[in-house]
This record gives sequence, structure tokens and C-alpha cells, in this order.
Amino acid sequence: MSHPRAELDPIEKASIDELRTLQLERMQWSLNHAYNNSPFYRARFDEAGVHPDDLKSLADLGKFPFTNKQDLRDNYPFKMFAVPKQQVVRVHASSGTTGKATVVGYTQNDIDTWANAVARSIRAGGGRPGDTCHISYGYGLFTGGLGAHYGAERLGCTVIPMSGGQTEKQVQLIADFEPRIIMVTPSYFLNIIDEMERQGLNPKKSSLEIGIFGAEPWTNAMRLEMEERVGIDAVDIYGLSEVIGPGVAQECIESKDGLTIWEDLFYPEIIDPVTGEVVADGEPGELVFTSLTKEALPMIRYRTRDLTRLLPGSVRTMRRMDKITGRSDDMMIIRGVNVFPTQIEEIILTMPQLSPHYQLELYREGHLDKLKVFVEQKEHIGLDSNQQEALANTLWHKIKSYVGISTQVMLCKPGQVDRSQGKAQRVIDKRPKS
Ligand code: DLL
Repeated sequence: MSHPRAELDPIEKASIDELRTLQLERMQWSLNHAYNNSPFYRARFDEAGVHPDDLKSLADLGKFPFTNKQDLRDNYPFKMFAVPKQQVVRVHASSGTTGKATVVGYTQNDIDTWANAVARSIRAGGGRPGDTCHISYGYGLFTGGLGAHYGAERLGCTVIPMSGGQTEKQVQLIADFEPRIIMVTPSYFLNIIDEMERQGLNPKKSSLEIGIFGAEPWTNAMRLEMEERVGIDAVDIYGLSEVIGPGVAQECIESKDGLTIWEDLFYPEIIDPVTGEVVADGEPGELVFTSLTKEALPMIRYRTRDLTRLLPGSVRTMRRMDKITGRSDDMMIIRGVNVFPTQIEEIILTMPQLSPHYQLELYREGHLDKLKVFVEQKEHIGLDSNQQEALANTLWHKIKSYVGISTQVMLCKPGQVDRSQGKAQRVIDKRPKS
């Protein structure tokens, strides 16, 4: 008999009507649950003059107020929770770059929901019960490691809970335990592949067949780079702690056409980040989520700051989101031009002489913001100084013509750009604090 988890969940095959009916029921439950059990939400809804009974259709969600990261900080650590503390079986937290950590909590049902969502994600990414799954997302307060772990176990995989770091050992365990799947940030995966090559191993000959990459933006150009170098299928997994962790949306291996949002659990909207108005599917904007079943920490209209657009379902009924272009906080404005690190990444990856390790430095000259692009040349190409200058010039021109900004290209030796062990820090902001 086939493993019960090998098959799609029934809701993955439901019709749109069935899905919308379930969403409405669950959304009504979620709004009521938040209003009745979390003083934070009660005050918020009262202030906005709305009541859960006002939600008669999914579109009515637009009447309800947003929540954001600051709300979690203001209610640090547990004041947004909607269940008594004794029912919270786990907390996670993210430190963020500024201010207090944001703390999230889970009941046992929430942990189950999450494990099922990640199991569903790994299956959509091509994983099967019985596969060995190497997890290099960090374990601990970060949701990546434990989130992936419980999901992989739930699917019926043999889990290697490696966590991040110890790159030499990562490579050794991959060689010895022969995982079929690796779950890791794309930037750290590049680091692992470099280490394989350093140890004289051919990444293409490794047992890996599937990489489930997320926790940071990465481009289709990066997908090709990783697929070619390692001979794997590279698929995208998305999530955020506030909404649950990894497993909110997942790219399906058979289409690789953006990420299917597990809409039966997390209801997506796209808004104009300036006006807060909901925009139509297909239009770009900021992704907003409403949790439909979460107990400990219901999130109502949470503003993720992630920029993308919603697309119709393809290999599932549920809607997809495009790969994330970036976070609104990562957007740089250089002489009036909006620039995301992913745009620079795409260009770097068109040049075979450059390695995919890069970092951007924002600095100020006079009153102008300027950008330095640090990028490494590939190890083996051995260019003389004229050739190096020509290479830097080519990159400069490409960025100028495709993105529209003048940069300062800093061509580095292999190994000079900081390596990530988890989420890569793409932008270093050296501008004076105002
Ligand atoms: O990064 C959860 C996660 C772990 C997702 C492992 C996937 C894999 P946070 O630390 O709360 O949670 O960070 C969430 O990371 O709002 C995005 O800006 C970014 N992010 C996560 N996945 C992707 C992705 C985890 N696939 C924040 N593409 C989110 C682009 C991503 N950005």
C-alpha cells in the first residue's frame, strides 16, 4: 500500500468554490477567535468600528485593520496571544535588525497545522515518504530548522537535523548519508557547493536531487546556476514566523512557475503599500496574510512587507505568488531609481566569469546615495589586471543599462565576499544615520 502522505491532501484537489466556501467559514472563525480572545485585536477592531459579524464575504476582509511587526513588538512578548499561556507548546522569535525581537507562539494544533503545511510543501517540491532530507536551516528560535524538521518527519522522511554552519561537516554528511533532499537558504547552499569543490568532490555526483530553498529572495537566474552546478531541481519555499514559519507557500516541482499559496490555511491579499488599498490579482504590491486556523497567535491582515503579485492556480487550484522581488525595507533608492538586490543578482548571474557571491554597500557622497557592488571573479579564470578592469566595466554597463543606475563595481578575489550561513545580508548600509 502506498504511504498515506504520498497523496495530495484532498483540499489541494478541491474546486475553487469548495475552497472559497472553506476560506469564508475559517475566516469568520479566525476573526471571532481573535476578537473574543485577544484584547489586542478586540481593541483594534473596536477602534476601527468593525466586528467579526461584518464579514459576510471574503471581500469584506478589506474592512478590517492591518497588523504589522510593530504591533508584535509593542505587545512583546506574549500580549497578542489568543489562548492562555498554558496552551502554548512552543515559541519562536526573530531578532530582526532593529528593536525588540518579535515573539510568536503555537498551540499543539498550530504545530500540527504547520507540520502538515511543510509536509505538503516538501511533497509539492518533489519529496516523497522514505526520502532522506538534510536540513541546513538554523535550528533554534528561527523557524526554519524546526519548521522544516517537523514537516519532513510528518511526510515520512528520514531527517538529518544538521542546522546551519560547520560547512565541512555538512559536506561530509551529505556524502555519507546520501540525502535526496536538502532544505537550506540558497546563499548557504552556494557555500556548501563551494566547499564540496574545495574538497575535490563533484557536486553533480552527490546524492542530492532536490533543493528546497527559501528564507531569502533568490532569482530564477540563481535557480539555473544551482540546478546546473549540482544537477538538482531547485524549488522555492516561502514563509514567515508571524504567519507560521516556512510552508506558507511552495513551488511545485512539475511547473516551477511561482509558489502555490496554501490558501486553505493562509489567506493572501496584495495591497498598494502606500495607500493600503487592495489591488487586483496580477497587480504587484505588498503581500498581506490572514491566518485561517491559527489558535495561539491569529494574524489578521498582517503586512509582510514582501513584494510580489498573485497569480491564478496552475498545477493546483490555489493561487500562486510570483517569486518575491524583495522586501520594501530592502528597496534602495539611488538617484530616484528603485533598486532591489535581486535585480543586481540577475545581472551578475548572466556573466559566467563572476561567482554568485555578492554584496551591496550603500553609502553617501554629498547628498547622494551611491552603491558599491562587491562581487567575486571565479576561482579558475586567472585574469590579468586589464581583463579584470574590462570585466568590472562590463558589469557596470549592464547594471547601468538594465537597472538605470551608476554603481561602483568592486571586483573581488574568490572568498573575499562575506559568506552566509543562513540568510545572506545583501545590503550593508554605510550611510550616516540621520
Ligand atoms: O524565513 C521562514 C522560512 C524559513 C521560510 C525557511 C522559508 C524557509 P522569518 O525569519 O520570519 O521566517 O523571515 C521571513 O523572509 O517575510 C521574506 O522577506 C523572507 N523570505 C522567506 N522565504 C522567502 C522566499 C522565515 N522563498 C521573511 N523568497 C519573509 C523570498 C523569503 N523571501
